[in-house]
Amino acid sequence: MSDSKTYPIKQFSTHTPHIDEEKYLRMYQQSVQEPEKFWSRMAHEFIDWFEPWKTVKNVDYKTASIKWFEGGKLNVSYNCIDRHLKDKADHTAIIWEGDEPDQQRYISYQELHDEVCKMANALKSRGVKKGDRVCIYMPMIPEVGFAMLACARIGAIHSVVFGGFSPEALKSRILDSDCRVVITADAGVRGGKTVPLKANTDKALQHCPDVHSVFVVKHRLADIDWHAERDIDYNELKKEMESECPVETMDAEDPLFILYTSGSTGKPKGVLHTSGGYLLHVAMTHKYIFDYHDGDIYWCTADAGWITGHSYIFYGPLANGATTLVFEGVPSYPTPSRFWQVVDKHKVNIFYTAPTAIRALMAVGDDAVKSTSRKSLRLLGSVGEPINVEAWEWYYKVVGDERCPIVDTWWQTETGGILISPLPGATPLKPGSATRPFFGVQPAILDQDGNELDGKASGYLVMKDSWPGQMRSVYGDHDRFFQTYFSQYSGYYFTGDGANRDEDGYYWITGRVDDVLNVSGHRMGTAEVENALDLHPLVAESAVVGYPHDIKGQGIYAFVIFKNGVEFNDEIKQQLIDIITEEIGPIAKPDKIQWAPDLPKTRSGKIMRRILRKIAENQVDSIGDTSTLADPSVVQHLIDNRLH
Ligand code: WTA
Repeated sequence: MSDSKTYPIKQFSTHTPHIDEEKYLRMYQQSVQEPEKFWSRMAHEFIDWFEPWKTVKNVDYKTASIKWFEGGKLNVSYNCIDRHLKDKADHTAIIWEGDEPDQQRYISYQELHDEVCKMANALKSRGVKKGDRVCIYMPMIPEVGFAMLACARIGAIHSVVFGGFSPEALKSRILDSDCRVVITADAGVRGGKTVPLKANTDKALQHCPDVHSVFVVKHRLADIDWHAERDIDYNELKKEMESECPVETMDAEDPLFILYTSGSTGKPKGVLHTSGGYLLHVAMTHKYIFDYHDGDIYWCTADAGWITGHSYIFYGPLANGATTLVFEGVPSYPTPSRFWQVVDKHKVNIFYTAPTAIRALMAVGDDAVKSTSRKSLRLLGSVGEPINVEAWEWYYKVVGDERCPIVDTWWQTETGGILISPLPGATPLKPGSATRPFFGVQPAILDQDGNELDGKASGYLVMKDSWPGQMRSVYGDHDRFFQTYFSQYSGYYFTGDGANRDEDGYYWITGRVDDVLNVSGHRMGTAEVENALDLHPLVAESAVVGYPHDIKGQGIYAFVIFKNGVEFNDEIKQQLIDIITEEIGPIAKPDKIQWAPDLPKTRSGKIMRRILRKIAENQVDSIGDTSTLADPSVVQHLIDNRLH
């Protein structure tokens, strides 16, 4: 950490960067010393309000009550579309690049307005109104953005479910937030493979009797079942819809969306974000962290089903009137040059992706990159998991030709937007470090007992105070919100991550300290995977841990105990994998499944995951003390039969 290389700030653009070193320090100071004044100024600069707010900030971490700009009236869809029409009606808002390299669409701000209004009117025609929840289960096509913005326009709360999730996972999310309307497509396609979204929706809805309307965007002309009383052919309905739809006036604290994410307990949480503070945070971070300038072509490769897609494909860039690229495909299809070919084709200036993609492409070799120009690129970003130094250096040298700074952005579904990141004109870079806090963000590092550590330190990463984009609640369960994030260390927001801080005040995120896995940047709870495995009739018990994986960052290692006398074989293994695919989706498939006669447990019956992690990591020499186990001999069996 301390002997790491530092890359000084250098000129990377013909523009003067928005923030230089001196300005960062000055603005940061003001943001924490006079937060009301600072945020008030920013809220005026970044957002058009219909009515001003009454209080800037009203936060109490002791009760998990978080409010920003209360009383302020705005509409997010208005801010992302309508206000740009006077100067930018003909500017491209969305570039869509399809799964195949010959497919593209260009959607101007005027077209975006018309499409969003039509979809909003379609929702209204089925009775959707302010406060209703709408589930969106879509491929990466512009319509996913139209759907989100249409909800925002009429005050409905969207809940986007990642298209890779199974019918079972979709069902539980629809039920949890009581969505009555679903927007989907006939099918999606990724890397040449069809994703049967409508068929999955049909399956999920067998158990969701309250869903009365399913809007189906015909994208692939796939062969699908049709339920006449419930299903709506959106392509047909759209023809009858007006291209004007007035915006609903929303309070800053009215909900904008729910997005499910995994925690350390079984059931995913509906993370609730509201309108004013969220929009301010994502617009501001998008401008400053990516040093966004008018006219830039900006591409974030995330999926709309994750928070990165919400904040940095749609809301942040569109609030700033940017051109944002929406990509349906995958980095390796049809060839491993695809990302860079898309960069060249659309002259992308700012590129934001995940370390797992970088590592996968790095493994293919430099030629796939070097055969492309990438001259348009000015800035590179990374998100989702710690980026290892080797991948950082490769991204910097091979992809960016040592010309483009890398912003390693640390944040979470819960934080709404980026909290720790370099600012490209202001922060010398250290590969592997997310560097310094964004404006208004006050991180601290705590020891086990909750003492704040000074200077160079290593411990639990917490936040001392709120920022506008912070989540406001777990949908339908405020107590869970309090218990999950504010009960461990009173007065702090607990991130669930560990971190080191070096002598320069830079933060180095070390990963989750709870039972949350991060597999290829996809977040999932060990308990979710275990619950799925336990559904198999022959499984008595299971325990899932993560282990370092060269490409995915973390792999999934499952230990499974079978009921009396059952022998593990390939057929059962396949059944276990099938169950996980059915319950969660292919992203949660274990990389390794080890049969275990027993698990290491304390005398009170608690599984000692620390030991399982060491076995999964193949670090059996550092297993440590096993004397507190009810039966220390089980460890040897697991060690002898470990898979590596
Ligand atoms: C991890 C994704 C290190 C972290 C935006 C966090 C990171 C979890 C980084 C949130 C980063 C995200 N460096 N770790 N730059 N970015 N993480 O909710 O463990 O899908 O808690 O949000 O990803 O994942 P989520």
